[in-house]
Amino acid sequence: MQTPGTLQTGAVLAGRYRVESLLGQGGMAWVFRAVDTHLDRPVAIKVLRESAAAHTERLRREARAAARLAHPAVVGIHDLGQLTDGRPFIVLEFIEGEPLSRLLAEGAVPAARAVHLLSPVAGALGEAHQHGIIHRDLKPDNLLLQRSPGAADRLRLLDFGIAAIEPVGEDQSRFTSDGSVFGTPEYMAPEQAMGQRATPATDVWALGVLLHTLLAGTPPFTGKHVPEILYKLTQTAPTPLPMDAPRHLAALVADCLQKDPALRPADGAAVLARLEAWAAPATAAPPRRGRCLWWVAAAAAPAAVACARGGGRRLPRWWAWRPGRSSGAATRPRRRPRWPRWPP
Ligand SMILES: Nc1ncnc2c1ncn2[C@@H]1O[C@H](COP(=O)(O)OP(=O)(O)O)[C@@H](O)[C@H]1O
Ligand SMILES: [Mg+2]
Repeated sequence: MQTPGTLQTGAVLAGRYRVESLLGQGGMAWVFRAVDTHLDRPVAIKVLRESAAAHTERLRREARAAARLAHPAVVGIHDLGQLTDGRPFIVLEFIEGEPLSRLLAEGAVPAARAVHLLSPVAGALGEAHQHGIIHRDLKPDNLLLQRSPGAADRLRLLDFGIAAIEPVGEDQSRFTSDGSVFGTPEYMAPEQAMGQRATPATDVWALGVLLHTLLAGTPPFTGKHVPEILYKLTQTAPTPLPMDAPRHLAALVADCLQKDPALRPADGAAVLARLEAWAAPATAAPPRRGRCLWWVAAAAAPAAVACARGGGRRLPRWWAWRPGRSSGAATRPRRRPRWPRWPP
């Protein structure tokens, strides 16, 4: 049987990889499920649709970038080979799961789940940035939601096909020679839209778009066509997050979506630190508001006793806010109270 992409089911590549079925396709490649007959394990085989030299270089670059990384959220690379027609192919760890885009099609997810899903991706990008690699194409289709029996599902990062590897000498543009754009413009950073050089902050932008999309159910910049999206992401503010989005995460999204890359968190590791800072207090310490109420109760108790002893003598209203005085200006009433001085 002929599978699309000219690889036949049952064909054996490099004397060991037996092709089984088509797994998915992206802008430039087909990905097949296959079996490594030497090690008797499933693998994924990525083959270019065309053998153009630029595309061949793209696949080799992807193999080199992924091979440099040993992060658990990065899909592992096993081998690099060549078909008889000259097209190169790469052999990847097979991931049982589905692209994140399918989960996002169902709408927003709770904040804790968004942070659980995104933290390893930010960590993987942090690792890539440390190795001088910028992914440049972070988007839901390049993240696979892996399902493992007995374990929480997790995201795995793939497709370093247009990654920039330092020292940067390659084409940095996200536009092809006919003017069309690589990948999904919703996740493109303003500097990419303007044809400027990508930096780790370019991936940070995409992390911000992803976090926004997970929390809101839609990306922060949408439009009916590519020019409208590119205009919005370079010129306008992102659409607001839902009112109930946690403030810390909303601030992180806003920082990641700064138009000026220099104002964003510096790299994936910086984003991971902020995601972890949000996740940690929920389990480590009791909420601050609870402590605050305890203070108010403790401070109000003597007042209540005094009130009872004083035969109902009315207490001035400053008792109500006195505990807040020591904890800073934010808790003080805006206008000076006009009640009488006390004790008289
Ligand atoms: N290792 C893998 N395991 C399972 N499915 C994969 C794997 N790699 C890719 N795929 C599937 O193939 C699709 C296209 O792969 P991708 O590497 O993004 O190709 P492209 O470079 O053409 O965008 C992915 O969205 C995913 O559905
Ligand atoms: Mg892809």
